[in-house]
Amino acid sequence: MNPGGFVGRPEYGRARERWGNESRHYVAVAVAIDAAYHTADERGQKGQSRMSSATAVAPRAQLFTPYTLRGITMRNRIVVSPMCQYSCTDGLATDWHLVHLGGRAIGGAGLVIAEATAVEARGRISPEDLGLWNDEQIAPLARVAAFLKEHGAVAGIQLAHAGRKASTYRPWAVNQGAALAEDGGWPDEVIAPSAIPFSATYPRPRAMSRAELTAVREAFVAATKRALTAGFEFIELHAAHGYLLHTFLSPLSNDRTDEWGGELAGRMRFPLEVVDAVRAAWPGHLPLGVRLSATDWVAGGWTIEDSVVLARELRARGVDVIDASSGGVSTAQQIPVGPAYQAHLAEQIRRGADIPTMAVGMITEPQQAEEILERGQADLIALARAFLRSPYWAAEAAAALGVEDADWPAQYGRAKPQVAQLAGQR
Ligand SMILES: Cc1cc2nc3c(=O)[nH]c(=O)nc-3n(C[C@H](O)[C@H](O)[C@H](O)COP(=O)(O)O)c2cc1C
Repeated sequence: MNPGGFVGRPEYGRARERWGNESRHYVAVAVAIDAAYHTADERGQKGQSRMSSATAVAPRAQLFTPYTLRGITMRNRIVVSPMCQYSCTDGLATDWHLVHLGGRAIGGAGLVIAEATAVEARGRISPEDLGLWNDEQIAPLARVAAFLKEHGAVAGIQLAHAGRKASTYRPWAVNQGAALAEDGGWPDEVIAPSAIPFSATYPRPRAMSRAELTAVREAFVAATKRALTAGFEFIELHAAHGYLLHTFLSPLSNDRTDEWGGELAGRMRFPLEVVDAVRAAWPGHLPLGVRLSATDWVAGGWTIEDSVVLARELRARGVDVIDASSGGVSTAQQIPVGPAYQAHLAEQIRRGADIPTMAVGMITEPQQAEEILERGQADLIALARAFLRSPYWAAEAAAALGVEDADWPAQYGRAKPQVAQLAGQR
């Protein structure tokens, strides 16, 4: 892997400083972990030296065993985590999405999840977000889904509503914070469970009416049907990172006094209603996942114990896998960032709710991923930034873990990462 390949871009460096100041979730995590990346690299080197003896005895790395959810089988346990590309006009996927997502399918990932895809125009994080709120948005995504499947990956998509974190500028825009109407934003139409802004620089949301709860739930259903028409085989509902569904769950962002607020059962009600409606619209042979912020990392906020309770409810409602992320609902969060820093959350949900989990967050090394599976912390391993550095992370991991027969495109046959070749470099 070549971290310098994108860290070295000057505009990325400038943007990174600015995003950190804005406390935007994805960026806050990225900033915080920078130092730890080096630790991860050092650990990776140690891990690789352990690997040479491990590969001599291990029949096959678990990372490269197939995994079945309902009627869908992934060729391995490696997932491309959803990543906003902020590269759309009117929510339409472009050639960027085809190349970006398609490249990771060519590179051997088992499941590729397209970025947070807005179910309503006002549910976009930025004006440039991907969407599935109208039928025109189906065809360009169908092209992407077909390509992913043609190259051996399961085609996944994350359906999302940004809630009170909607209508912001994309990370590399000159302006930051609430996106103004003249720049394509909708700061006066931002909705949330309660009229509590994320921070002073974000739009002030309006508390959702009963009619809006119904409308948003139905928008999730309509987007689900469009995702099916587009050919996707896996949906992940975004209930993490301070976006709409997460803000219903967390007591820090939900102070409603009606049946969608109050105690845990009330705060879970709207996300569970959305899950029920989506599950009913999504075919029985196709798997459904939910991404949770397993903890808010704030005293008085949503906890891992709450997540276990919710995961049991989700399992009972036909959710097949929990993607265990964390944070994003409060600027007061204190995230103990480090290698695989959220894997223990995936483990607690897996054990506590008896449901498959996906571990994510600073998993960068093949041996590290393998150990998470071996320890029974998770069933799937999702990577985000490691895949931005290398679309071929999966193929490189296969070689590093001594797996000879991982998928590799015939067109690239002469360049297939070789087990012996990488072993020779160690
Ligand atoms: C550029 C970028 C965009 C992201 N967009 C999304 C998104 O659309 N939905 C989401 O749930 N998480 C998103 N994330 C978070 C990642 O999916 C992932 O959870 C996080 O980066 C931690 O994993 P990593 O350490 O492997 O990067 C994004 C992360 C990055 C770097």
